[in-house]
Amino acid sequence: MYGLIRPLLFRMDPERAHGFGLWSARWGGGLLARLTGGAPVAGHEVEVAGLRFPNPVGLAAGFDKNGVALPFWRGVGFGFLEIGTVTPRPQPGNPKPRMWRFPEHDALGNKLGFPNEGAAAVAKRVAKSRRDSDVIGINLGKNKDTPNDRAADDYVAALEATRNVADYWVVNVSSPNTPGLRELQSRAYLTDLLGQVKHAAQGKPLFVKLSPDLDDAGLCDAAGSCQDAGCDGVIATNTTLQRPDGVTFEGGLSGAPLAERSRDVLTKLRALLDDKKPIISVGGIGSAEEVRARLDAGASLVQIYSALVFEGPRLVRKILRGL
Ligand SMILES: Cc1cc2nc3c(=O)[nH]c(=O)nc-3n(C[C@H](O)[C@H](O)[C@H](O)COP(=O)(O)O)c2cc1C
Repeated sequence: MYGLIRPLLFRMDPERAHGFGLWSARWGGGLLARLTGGAPVAGHEVEVAGLRFPNPVGLAAGFDKNGVALPFWRGVGFGFLEIGTVTPRPQPGNPKPRMWRFPEHDALGNKLGFPNEGAAAVAKRVAKSRRDSDVIGINLGKNKDTPNDRAADDYVAALEATRNVADYWVVNVSSPNTPGLRELQSRAYLTDLLGQVKHAAQGKPLFVKLSPDLDDAGLCDAAGSCQDAGCDGVIATNTTLQRPDGVTFEGGLSGAPLAERSRDVLTKLRALLDDKKPIISVGGIGSAEEVRARLDAGASLVQIYSALVFEGPRLVRKILRGL
């Protein structure tokens, strides 16, 4: 079915097409999801950070920022969902246009800048549609106008507002689209930030999401901060400022061109982190073979964003059947 709809979607402006897809997922719900893919795929349960996941393939942050389509994602077969990035106060994000697609590279570009309805509104919506068996992560950010030396207050406030709906939280310090945000990955900020948020998490798992553009020293520092602060694991990676030849736009690139760097960062982090700290690998994943490669390289879970846009929601079951 997606094969028929895709040419229409790809004729639309990327952000409009995304909005239309999400609207369909919201109102079509579980019924629409079942039309996309047949029976659930069992036999891939995993336990990570004390949580039981029905399978290791999750929806990456940013696709459903406001948590509008949980029954659809559940029906599509995802083992877990990451909602957000949410900020404590609602914000509109950057001016449009702010999303691009590059089909010849299976890549997307965005400089959205965390448009979202605010943590409390998202929590209220998620509370209505989540089930006990769902595994839901809430990805936390700071508002654009909050300075870095007060960033921890924003992350903690967004965590508090989503306390009752999150199974785990993610401190997102790696979006390239909020000015200065990635500076929070430096040791000077990160250990203290993660320590404060971990304290607020009251024992629930906390992950930190890192950039693929960190160099070896930066990865080493971030891994050290994660360990020192008692953070439970790492999500690697967010979008990159690197570009394939001929691709120009302002913001973060995702999809196939990110795969190699994302794999590389996974391998480096696996060597840096304590064996018990799980890594969620994300970036350019679009096949069962790639998922297998990430799990073999030491990831405990994976997430997908861009490949869903190019392949459609059936991809999730196709991957699970191929694992
Ligand atoms: C349009 C768009 C919006 C995104 N928004 C967020 C976000 O709000 N928070 C976040 O942590 N990552 C966000 N991401 C990054 C993805 O979660 C993921 O880390 C990245 O796209 C790499 O995965 P992929 O190659 O499968 O797309 C966004 C990505 C895209 C393409």
